[in-house]
Amino acid sequence: MHEGAEAIVTSGYWMGKSAVKKHRRPRTWRHPELDSRLTKSRLTSEARTLLKLQQLNFSCPSIYHLNLNDGILYMERVGGEPLVKSLNSEMSLETSRKIFNELGKLLRNLHLCGITHGDLTTTNIILDSLGEITLIDYGLSQSTFEVEPYGLDFHVLHECLQATHPMFPNAMEQIIESYLNLEESDLDEFAGGTIPTSKEVITRFEQIKGRVRYHD
Ligand SMILES: Nc1ncnc2c1ncn2[C@@H]1O[C@H](COP(=O)(O)OP(=O)(O)O)[C@@H](O)[C@H]1O
Ligand SMILES: [Mg+2]
Repeated sequence: MHEGAEAIVTSGYWMGKSAVKKHRRPRTWRHPELDSRLTKSRLTSEARTLLKLQQLNFSCPSIYHLNLNDGILYMERVGGEPLVKSLNSEMSLETSRKIFNELGKLLRNLHLCGITHGDLTTTNIILDSLGEITLIDYGLSQSTFEVEPYGLDFHVLHECLQATHPMFPNAMEQIIESYLNLEESDLDEFAGGTIPTSKEVITRFEQIKGRVRYHD
């Protein structure tokens, strides 16, 4: 199905249900102990986040099985194809607007769980035939109240859209607009801190963009 730099993902079944098996392979050029730690921490982050999101009713793949020693995670297979593919085939601006609008809402809903994605590119967003989108690949996700990783989610997405999808120059604007427009009623329900407001996140994103430009 996919062989990235870090993980091998294969498609199959788990107890009769369509599943993907994600195997984080050891990288020989890294120190074996360090390698095993990194592999475990990414798998653990992914599994922990998926469980937390499930409890909070945020739509994401269900976990079927986790084996940390072998570096293997089985999870529900999400139907559809990566957004990168759909955007690169013929897509009307109207359809894309709907998707970017959904994406903004979805991202705000993820952030309202107190979770940042960490690798928000269009290969990690799955679009199904009904136009529904699902975020996958939570290996770099964080459970945090700090505004920086929230802003970074936008920055990563922005860089991806700019580099890979220049056909949709208004994408970011549309995503941000719907992110800012989502109703927020119970922001301070979490113990231990407060999730950054949507405005704080976007302000931080603008700052990050400025920082990056300055260093270019
Ligand atoms: N739960 C899933 N359902 C459907 N496809 C998936 C799922 N998980 C991964 N994939 C597919 O495998 C690819 C790589 O998986 P991903 O979790 O992004 O690993 P990596 O860390 O290598 O990027 C994804 O881009 C997607 O096409
Ligand atoms: Mg990925």
